[in-house]
This record gives sequence, C-alpha cells and structure tokens, in this order.
Amino acid sequence: MLIDTHAHLQMKDYNSDRQAVLDRAKSADVEYIINASFDIPSSQLAVKLADENEMLFASVGVHPHDAKTLDDKALETLKELAQNKKVVAIGEIGLDYYRDLSPRSIQRSAFIAQINLARELDLPIIIHNRDSHDDMLSILKENLNGLSGVMHCFSGDQDFADKCLELGLYISFAGPVTYPNSIVLQRIAANIPKNKFFVETDCPYLSPQFMRGKRNEPSYVKAVARKIAELRHDTLPNISKITSENANALFKLNREIK
Ligand code: NI
Repeated sequence: MLIDTHAHLQMKDYNSDRQAVLDRAKSADVEYIINASFDIPSSQLAVKLADENEMLFASVGVHPHDAKTLDDKALETLKELAQNKKVVAIGEIGLDYYRDLSPRSIQRSAFIAQINLARELDLPIIIHNRDSHDDMLSILKENLNGLSGVMHCFSGDQDFADKCLELGLYISFAGPVTYPNSIVLQRIAANIPKNKFFVETDCPYLSPQFMRGKRNEPSYVKAVARKIAELRHDTLPNISKITSENANALFKLNREIK
C-alpha cells in the first residue's frame, strides 16, 4: 500500500471527477491521502472531504503566498478546524522567496505563528520552502523545540537535506525525483535513511515524468515510489511499505500498514 502524503484534492481542478480520481488511487494501491491546505477556504474544504471519505486526511494552514491573510481570526479558525480527528498536521506553512507573494517579514511571522499553533495542538508541520533555505533553517532552529514535521516536495541540496534531518524533520519526495535532470535530488533519495522519508504527489502540480505537464493525481504517487525503489536498488513493495510506515508514524494516522 501507498500513502500520498501531500495532495490538493480540494481544489476545483477535481470538481468534475473527484470520485474517479479517488477510485483510480485505490486501484493503484493508494490507501490514504493527506490533503494539504493553503488558506482558510481550502482548509475548510479539506476537513469536509476528510469527514466524508475514509481514504482522506487533512492538514490545515496558510501558505506563505497568503501569509498576509493570517490574522487572529484566521488562527482561531485553524485551531477550531484542527479539533477534527482527521486533521493530522498544520500546513502547508513556510517561506517562498521565489514568488514573494507576501512580504518576507510577514511570511516569517505567519510561519512562526503557525509553528506555535502546531505545538499547542501537538500536531506535526508540513513545510513549504522555496529559495529561502537560510531563513528557513534559522527559524526552524529557533522555533521547533522538538516539534516534528516534514520538508514537503524537497528541493534542496545534500547539505540542506542533512540539516533538515539534524533538526529531526522527515523529507518528502514528489514528481521531480522522476525527472531525468534531477541528479542531486535522486542522489539524496538514494541515500537518505530509510526511516526518514516518504512520498507525495503535490497534485494537481508536478506530475511525474510520464505525465509531465498534465494534471497530477494521487494514483501517480506510485511512479515516485517506483523511481525511489530503482534509485535505492530496492523493491516497489518494500519502498511502499516503509514510506507508509514513516507517514503513519509522523502523522499518527493510527492505521494498519500492509
Ligand atoms: Ni502543495
């Protein structure tokens, strides 16, 4: 079995065929999917979908792009949503200095506020990081204090990966690990300790190589796992099992892993 640890099935991209997408995931051995959120409406929708469907879990949070919308009321709403038993993380939260859609100082304060919320709620965090490695590491060093989480859709080099692991974080691999030119990323996936990583799609974005440029969906997470199995000279069933166990451990899904 596989777990897609980071999808966005609450997006309107799936409004016309969401059930078919879930059925295809099931047929591809994807037992569970965590829908990650990026603002208040997507958090509300992710929780609603998780409530309606056995396969789905949710994270709630405000993405750095929308950091300027994270006021006290939004924080209170996230806290209320997180009372739902199928909310398993706060995220995706972090820094994005590539698109800079919210001022950087506001991104940093929204990130720290949501790290603190996660600690208060005893939930792990799902971290988005783009072109912000130095500020990311210094914020994590000062604020994690034992809180656990995952660097989602990992995109750094070996040194950044090592520093994330030192902080106790997991690393999650998405479609880019299947791209022929992703040499650095593939080397990290080949060598990372087996209890520290798992897989995701980040759908509808970042389809693996065989569907590159098209809409992504959770069934394609198998292509990510298959590539990592190849890189590690391991088998797909074994990589599926260990990544599911790792996700089950971080997110406390309390599900039986087969
Ligand atoms: Ni995402």
